[in-house]
Amino acid sequence: MTSLNEARRDLAARLETAGIADAAIEAKYLLAAATGLEGASLIAEGHREFTTDEADRLEAMAARRLAREPLAHILGNQPFWTLDLEVSPDVLIPRTDTETLVETALDLMPSASGIQRVLDVGTGSGAVLLAILKERPNAYGIGTDVSPAALTIAERNAVRNGLDGRSSFRQTSWVDGLRGGDFDLAVSNPPYIATAVIAGLEPEVRDHDPALALDGGEDGLDAYRVLLPELFRILKPGAPMAVEIGFDQAASVSALAGEAGFTGMAIRRDLGGNDRVVSALKPK
Ligand SMILES: C[S@@+](CC[C@H](N)C(=O)[O-])C[C@H]1O[C@@H](n2cnc3c(N)ncnc32)[C@H](O)[C@@H]1O
Repeated sequence: MTSLNEARRDLAARLETAGIADAAIEAKYLLAAATGLEGASLIAEGHREFTTDEADRLEAMAARRLAREPLAHILGNQPFWTLDLEVSPDVLIPRTDTETLVETALDLMPSASGIQRVLDVGTGSGAVLLAILKERPNAYGIGTDVSPAALTIAERNAVRNGLDGRSSFRQTSWVDGLRGGDFDLAVSNPPYIATAVIAGLEPEVRDHDPALALDGGEDGLDAYRVLLPELFRILKPGAPMAVEIGFDQAASVSALAGEAGFTGMAIRRDLGGNDRVVSALKPK
């Protein structure tokens, strides 16, 4: 007889041997999905027998993970900020680093203010927009993306998190079709990885995140060149913007923001100490 605890330990060892970081944590999530048990129940029932059905389910999921499919795709969801988000191969799996963009946006949009209109460009799963709206009950937001499949997931995530009444999603390239001078805050986490770097990324990213979400062109800055002047256009005078950046892009993106007309550029680091966000203001 194999117990749940033994199955979990065995899976953690296999994941670790395959070079997967956080093997023990991932084994716990996969066992929870295979058994339908969570947290305390998984511990309380740890000594009970692992059924054949559960073993079959776990093995199917383990095979996918050992082939380096991301855990979030196997589970179908990913926590981000205080949200639970549906994810699929159609959207970038939201990263913890991107919570730095949410923090910056919230600092730029104090909670005391009245109704505000927020724009999230390249919204993907809707992660950034929905996290901001969750924290700012007076805010309304639009998320744009060029991918219709991503927007379907973003719409479902708005419903799943009770934010569909204050969010809408639009398929367009960047901000095409949106009125100028209309937004109180604009955010974006655009594709910013240099094309040549993508081949060397971890298989979970290289083979499973959408190329559209990663590829920033030859120097990684293609999106900012188009986006920053467009963000300037759609913001109200005096309104702020914040964009996520790669760890080595702060100087280049700040310079592009200046060329677009922004002032007061500021750089924020993520929890790992890397430059992660450039913010700035459209002058009044
Ligand atoms: C790095 S992902 C960010 C997704 C999400 N905002 C997040 O932070 O998890 C970049 C997103 O930009 C979208 N994108 C790429 N090119 C675009 C374009 N021309 N117009 C609008 N969105 C675009 C991609 O489809 C993808 O969803």
